[in-house]
Amino acid sequence: MGKPLVKVIVNGYGVIGKRVADALLKQEDMRLVGVSDVVADWRIKLAVAKGFNIYSSLPDKLDDMRRGGIPVSGTLEELLRSGGVDVVVDCTPAKVGAKNKTLYEKYGVKAVFQGGEKHEVAGTSFVAQRNYEEALGKQFVRVVSCNTTAICRVVGGIHEKLKVRKARVVIIRRAVDVWESSHTGIMNTVVPELQVPSHHGPDAKTVIHDLDIVTMAAKGSHNLYHLHMAMIELNSSVRLDDVVGVLNEEPRVVLVSGSDGIEGLNSIFELARDLGRSRGDLYEIPVWGDSISVASDGREVYLMWATPNESNVIPENIDAIRAITELETRREVSIAKTDKSLNIIKKLY
Ligand SMILES: NC(=O)c1ccc[n+]([C@@H]2O[C@H](COP(=O)([O-])OP(=O)(O)OC[C@H]3O[C@@H](n4cnc5c(N)ncnc54)[C@H](O)[C@@H]3O)[C@@H](O)[C@H]2O)c1
Repeated sequence: MGKPLVKVIVNGYGVIGKRVADALLKQEDMRLVGVSDVVADWRIKLAVAKGFNIYSSLPDKLDDMRRGGIPVSGTLEELLRSGGVDVVVDCTPAKVGAKNKTLYEKYGVKAVFQGGEKHEVAGTSFVAQRNYEEALGKQFVRVVSCNTTAICRVVGGIHEKLKVRKARVVIIRRAVDVWESSHTGIMNTVVPELQVPSHHGPDAKTVIHDLDIVTMAAKGSHNLYHLHMAMIELNSSVRLDDVVGVLNEEPRVVLVSGSDGIEGLNSIFELARDLGRSRGDLYEIPVWGDSISVASDGREVYLMWATPNESNVIPENIDAIRAITELETRREVSIAKTDKSLNIIKKLY
């Protein structure tokens, strides 16, 4: 007989939570117990229409949610107390997860936190391709932010195979997520983050401990994806083919080309929609092959990529569940299972 299905609840049904919930439905070794939130808006009503069991994350929101027309099954705490959950994927807004940790500790359930929480909340930060083994059997793990995940995949892949001496990455962030752009965001400007380095570099080091990396960031006035530009010094001399070869082998990284008309973040967004995936989500990091250049002495590499912020961390959440529950101890097996279930590919077109 195989291992029993791991029972998972998603707490916080927003940009990340709803994608994690849908990804969970595609896993043969996991079962989505339900989703939990504190509001009764159209997003939660859509979750009801999908047949999900709905829980109230805060007891004092239960009546409001019911009055708002949601058939709430009970509170999250009651569910955890009943023993009906093995793992909570906490997708609540930044810093709320830290408060929820006490509840997860009280009932001895495992939890996957997101990048809006500090590393210390979980004690282990996670990108499947880089440090799957570090999370094995842990009670808590934190899937790092979309930006850090992209850096760990691209720069981390180059570091693993070609040895990075130091990496410098500039990030132009999207202003706001699409669903919230009716009430916040910036227009017609670029706003630098004046704290240098930005938090992304130190965050990447929570996953790749020996990486010398500094990041700088600015907020753009668009809402489609982040753009990353990297300058990477290597310990030894390499050729362009070496870098392309590494990226071709790296899971969840794909090459795209300006000469094919992939001119900007908008083209990638359109391509993602044309792939016909749920919500047009792109789980891979598209690196512009035409942007990859190597300095004449072969010791410095330059490249640019897009970071599909709403979706690139979704496969990492699935792998994080497999790692902490030890459903699968081999990283390559978990990554392959997740990639197959989400149709993650190495060539987008
Ligand atoms: N949006 C992105 O592009 C992105 C990318 C990677 C990681 N993250 C991280 O993922 C986490 C979630 O971000 P998001 O963008 O999905 O947020 P979101 O605002 O889209 O969704 C959060 C959800 O949590 C609910 N919520 C609020 N308070 C709650 C509580 N006390 N208990 C339960 N639910 C509560 C909200 O109603 C909402 O549905 C954050 O840590 C964020 O930093 C976000």
